[in-house]
Amino acid sequence: MTTYDDILGLRTVRRFQKRPVSAPDLAAILEAARWTGSAKNRQLWSFIVIDDPEQKAALTGAGSFMTPVVNAPMAIALVRLPGGYDFDTGRVAQNIMLGAAAIGVGTCPVTLHSEEVARQVLGIPDEAFCRYAIAVGYENKDAEREGRQVQRSTLPVGRKPLDELVHRNRWNG
Ligand SMILES: Cc1cc2nc3c(=O)[nH]c(=O)nc-3n(C[C@H](O)[C@H](O)[C@H](O)COP(=O)(O)O)c2cc1C
Repeated sequence: MTTYDDILGLRTVRRFQKRPVSAPDLAAILEAARWTGSAKNRQLWSFIVIDDPEQKAALTGAGSFMTPVVNAPMAIALVRLPGGYDFDTGRVAQNIMLGAAAIGVGTCPVTLHSEEVARQVLGIPDEAFCRYAIAVGYENKDAEREGRQVQRSTLPVGRKPLDELVHRNRWNG
């Protein structure tokens, strides 16, 4: 598999095995996050690894579609520090997801719709912001296959064709 294949093949995983993420795998995932590029290389982010079951359960109150976190042994919350950009946070998320997939670990980004609950549960300081987390774990392949069949009725499948997405030189081009 080339990097290009990995990019095209990356899919979200929402059903996980119960076993915890190993320490070397977690270290590799966090290293992929650490090496993400950011505007002016300021690296205005922090990562909160949540593997305490009670803490993880509390975090599920912060989002509307938190099943992946319920199912996963671990989540990583992405904290944007003052002056940081959402663009950079998105790049960190993608590095975590691609880095994890490369070592056989599944991920799903989740939105923390209630900023206040996330702030309170995770103890985020006033000046920082946490809107997204990533569920992390080893895929339960059978459950995932079945779940995706059901998901087909609720989420779009695949991706839009390029001719819907790409313009040449100007909007109507
Ligand atoms: C910014 C963002 C927020 C997301 N939030 C959630 C979420 O709260 N819960 C969830 O189950 N999936 C969430 N997802 C996952 C998307 O539903 C998923 O990326 C999309 O359906 C494509 O899935 P696929 O790559 O497996 O085809 C989120 C994805 C992104 C990029």
